Amino acid sequence: MAQRVRKAVFPVAGLGTRFLPATKTLPKEMLPVVDKPLVQYAVEEARAAGIEEFVFVTGRGKVVLEDHFDHSVELERVLTERGKTAELKAVLDCNLSPGKLSYTRQQEPLGLGHAVWCGRAFIGDEPFAVLLPDDLILAEPGCLKQMMDVYETIGGNVVAVEDVPRSQTSRYGILDVVEDDGRLARAKGLVEKPAPEKAPSTLSIIGRYILQPDVFRHLDRQERGAGNEIQLTDAMAKTIGSIPFHGFRFKGRRFDCGSKAGFIEANLAFSLARPDMREDVLAMLKRYT
Ligand code: UTP
Repeated sequence: MAQRVRKAVFPVAGLGTRFLPATKTLPKEMLPVVDKPLVQYAVEEARAAGIEEFVFVTGRGKVVLEDHFDHSVELERVLTERGKTAELKAVLDCNLSPGKLSYTRQQEPLGLGHAVWCGRAFIGDEPFAVLLPDDLILAEPGCLKQMMDVYETIGGNVVAVEDVPRSQTSRYGILDVVEDDGRLARAKGLVEKPAPEKAPSTLSIIGRYILQPDVFRHLDRQERGAGNEIQLTDAMAKTIGSIPFHGFRFKGRRFDCGSKAGFIEANLAFSLARPDMREDVLAMLKRYT
């Protein structure tokens, strides 16, 4: 049986240039979808999948993100005094168990692989999950929980994948597939951001990973890849051959909230999924169509 996954890394040190000027001072991961910041959705998804320890790889200007997961003593006092129990619960629900969250800094945004590598001391020698909060997934059970269930039987490295139009392969890490049963695809290689004509498939890696700690041995070399960044995909590719690598087609919808259109669609989908908002949003949409 595969070793249990207890820890998760949340790389949140990117610059979010696609969302400027909103992200000049506000971290992209704090952008709200309906009434919760993106990073909180990712944390809740991880918690529901059994994650117990949370490692945030932050950068300069991300302090509000740390404050979000801490007590806000004054706010809690005022809400208590005013009897606003639902609001108080919403605020308290943000808190994680004391000592179970850690922050480390990626001093320079050298790429996703480098961000994950910055979390190595907290992970140690055990399998771990990586969640990119700007990939927001509407799914029940959550995407990481679905992956954990599969991982328990197959072990190794498991990443969430999705078929994308061939014209978009240059935005993603793409699998070179040997075997595919429609749900699980075993890869013999990975290519980061290939041009459409060079892509070995259209099966793309999205922001959920379960990885064995061996990936750190390859990240240690700090080799640059596509875009001159230290790519997680390249390090994962090097583990193939010694560790099985599977892409898992999860059930649910993913929204790329790092892009403006993806973020707007996520707000629509998540508000339509909320019974307290659905009717109002549908009525609102009618006024625009
Ligand atoms: P993106 O590829 O979306 O990059 O990162 P970005 O810098 O955040 O945004 P754009 O492209 O400039 O608009 C995917 C995830 O990896 C993290 C980001 O915070 C995001 O969660 N990341 C990326 C880092 O933590 N460090 C990096 O050096 C790069």
